Amino acid sequence: MTTERIPQLKDFSAASLDAAFAALEAEARSEAAALATPGAVEAFRLEWLGRKQGRLNEISSLWLKSAPAEAKKLLGQRFNALKTAVEGLLDAALGAGPSNASLAAEAIDITLPGTRRLMGAEHPIIKTLNEIVGVFQALGYSVGVGPEVETDFYNFESMNFPPGHPARDTQDTLVIANQERRPLRDRLLLRTHTSPVQMRTMEQHAPPVRIVIPGKVHRNDAADATHSPIFHQVEGLCVDTNVTFSDLKGTLDHAMKALFGSAVKTRFFPSFFPFTEPSADVQISCIFCGGKGCRKCKHSGWIELLGCGMVDPAVFAFAAEKQPAYDSRKISGFAFGMGVERIAMMKYGVSEIGQFYSGEMKFLNQFA
Ligand code: DAH
Repeated sequence: MTTERIPQLKDFSAASLDAAFAALEAEARSEAAALATPGAVEAFRLEWLGRKQGRLNEISSLWLKSAPAEAKKLLGQRFNALKTAVEGLLDAALGAGPSNASLAAEAIDITLPGTRRLMGAEHPIIKTLNEIVGVFQALGYSVGVGPEVETDFYNFESMNFPPGHPARDTQDTLVIANQERRPLRDRLLLRTHTSPVQMRTMEQHAPPVRIVIPGKVHRNDAADATHSPIFHQVEGLCVDTNVTFSDLKGTLDHAMKALFGSAVKTRFFPSFFPFTEPSADVQISCIFCGGKGCRKCKHSGWIELLGCGMVDPAVFAFAAEKQPAYDSRKISGFAFGMGVERIAMMKYGVSEIGQFYSGEMKFLNQFA
């Protein structure tokens, strides 16, 4: 009884579909306009939207199923438009706002849990880095940064590692490929320390300077519990008239107390860095045993934490090429460099450096 209520479709072209659907919609409109009683409205609803015998249901089973694949999209769009139109007509005829059906389609289930946005937190390395920087900012230091892809000149030569010097072997790194045509000093590499930013800073600013430089550095080091080929450092540089080794000691002693607590003691051991003379390694009294001796400090009571020294006149000579005020007869300075991971591991009792890079929420959450 029903199929004749659905016109024959001669073809599935857009034009033919438009004509067929326009005719159906016009028919629905004229019927809807004539609805006078609640019974008529219900009959209209059944005729068009009835679940078993409604005309829309028939269109869907007769046309949509027989349509060639390429026409299905066109047909579907028109079908949906007709359905929306008929539902609108029914809503209007009911005079009671949107139908239950269209309300259901729009309904929001307010009992569903919302989309939870996790609160971010500073990574423990960044947190430690900021803490170190903050200690020096409080002393009046400014903060600088430099490039991670650095030239041989800034990373090595200007830091007094001459070409071919064996001190370079202690800081092997990745070099950028295909640079053989460039002079050695211009060749690019991943910086092995933040010290090159000392030179970049001095070239830009005449003394006095007091600056700390946090950043990422790279070494050809095998990863193990305490080494990672990528890690972070905070560099420091202070240049002025009459800066002495006592100033260096006082500054770093204060910084270590600020970072690890006022009970911590420091001591300075002779060491070597090409860019400082004299150079020292700074040790702090073991924060785990208070200096009595334990496994963590190898029963010495001391833990080595950073390198420092008085800026070598050879470094000032490179800076003086751009800023003549770096005349080592008139000014002096100290520098220091510390590993952020090492300090974070000490502060938080982390025994595997790799945990910092693991991305594991269980680990990271502890610092949030
Ligand atoms: N650049 C050194 C390193 O990566 C650390 C360092 C030592 C920096 C002494 C300094 C310094 O500024 O004076 O091993």
